[in-house]
Amino acid sequence: MRVALLGSGRGSNAKAILRAKQNGQLGRADIVGIFCDNPHAPMLKLGPRFGVPAFFLDPGPFKTKFSPEQESVWANTLLSHQVDLVVLAGFMRVVKTPLLNAFKNKIINIHPSLLPLFPGLDGIGQTWRADVNEGGCTVHWVTDEVDGGQHLGQIRVSRENSDTLETFTEKIHAAEHVLLPKIIAELSVL
Ligand code: GAR
Repeated sequence: MRVALLGSGRGSNAKAILRAKQNGQLGRADIVGIFCDNPHAPMLKLGPRFGVPAFFLDPGPFKTKFSPEQESVWANTLLSHQVDLVVLAGFMRVVKTPLLNAFKNKIINIHPSLLPLFPGLDGIGQTWRADVNEGGCTVHWVTDEVDGGQHLGQIRVSRENSDTLETFTEKIHAAEHVLLPKIIAELSVL
């Protein structure tokens, strides 16, 4: 299964996936490229470190969506890499028709909340401010509804009295780094 990792920033989820691959824990999945919408994304540095091609691709002039022309460029680039699964690993842009049509039922996303609770931006901050006693992360199929596709897996994280936003955030990120590689490995052997 040829996998593309799409991201916008830090890349800790991408790193967890690449580490899992190194450790033989990614099933039959191969990471064929890292694709970033931000030329300064630290995630791009993972390419040389893990021996995977890493690219900046222009998303167009908007902040949270592609221009339709550039989304088609992204779709064609991923098609030319013969990608079987597109993984949104910290990708902060809404995906629309050009990518959804090119990769029908082949795009997954990780979101840092227990969806359907707290979709959209800053899932951890939303969870924290709601003062609920647990948070977590969700991996789901990507559809035209933001954070609305069918769930592939969740990990729940409890919020203790001693937690600060910082420690709660760290726990959710740690859970993400377990969940996303696990789901990719599972999908690769279906
Ligand atoms: C992760 O927490 C991921 O769940 C979130 O961005 C962070 C990226 O971190 N994604 C979203 O909120 C998507 N709506 P990373 O770059 O270190 O993987």
